[in-house]
Amino acid sequence: VAAAEDAVAAAAERDRIGLAWRPELAAGLHEAMAFVDALEVIADNWFHASSRELSALAALGAERPLLLHGVGMGLASAFPVARGRAEAMARLVERVRPAAWSEHLAFVRAGDLEIGHLAAPPRSAETIEGTLENLERVRRVVGSPPWLENVATLVDPPFSSLTETAWTARVFRDGDADMLLDLHNLYANALNFRTDPFAMLREMPLERVRGVHLSGGRWTDHESGGRPRLLDDHLHDPPDAVYDLLTALARDAPQPLFVIIERDGCYPAMDSLLLQIGRARAALATGRAARQPDVRQAA
Ligand SMILES: [Fe+2]
Repeated sequence: VAAAEDAVAAAAERDRIGLAWRPELAAGLHEAMAFVDALEVIADNWFHASSRELSALAALGAERPLLLHGVGMGLASAFPVARGRAEAMARLVERVRPAAWSEHLAFVRAGDLEIGHLAAPPRSAETIEGTLENLERVRRVVGSPPWLENVATLVDPPFSSLTETAWTARVFRDGDADMLLDLHNLYANALNFRTDPFAMLREMPLERVRGVHLSGGRWTDHESGGRPRLLDDHLHDPPDAVYDLLTALARDAPQPLFVIIERDGCYPAMDSLLLQIGRARAALATGRAARQPDVRQAA
């Protein structure tokens, strides 16, 4: 029993909670680094960085585990990922040696047409096939597979024959990749398409989760023509339910997790972001503690 409890405590100790680094947060973050276990940066913003800027990023990575987050590949598509994009990621990974790199389960262009956001693919056998081919392509070029992130969507993708969780589970089963689980994306999709978010969480490939995003959004109605929908805008604090989902995840997934607070504007004071880190830490601890009775039983 003592050994099992030690194992749970060790996993909890290796959980890391941090922030998505943005230039607007840099000054405040410098003062707050003692409370931040890990940092994530948008990889695409560094593809054309100068050698001096890359040295600064590598130095940041030497201070805290660094995660590179890609936004432009469009992996979940029947179109092959442009080799140049994968090569740019490969160069950045080689230069800054991150703890991991990630991309979205989304498409961002169709042919030459740039959509301008991360669009959910039709959930079908064809898009699973395209995603797996792209995953293999980028794995070969970069040298390691990305953590793959679930995306939020306001429209149920047309031409879908699978649910989001069935589609996602098959990608991870056949792609042998790890997951960056965005709990607000999951929460927003669950509410917008009238599913229980905790049931949806249980259907995700939780054993594959290595990274977690926590963010917030706002309710919108007139823009969607009637029924209010939760828009994942990264401009608001994570709602209580997202922390509850993190507790459920920490209870059901024993592996250590990187948890990142993701904010892309309307930045609050650093103290407020540190409070959110503290809430995430507490939510994780509650989930880890809830595992212990199971472990005792198994022991
Ligand atoms: Fe995210």
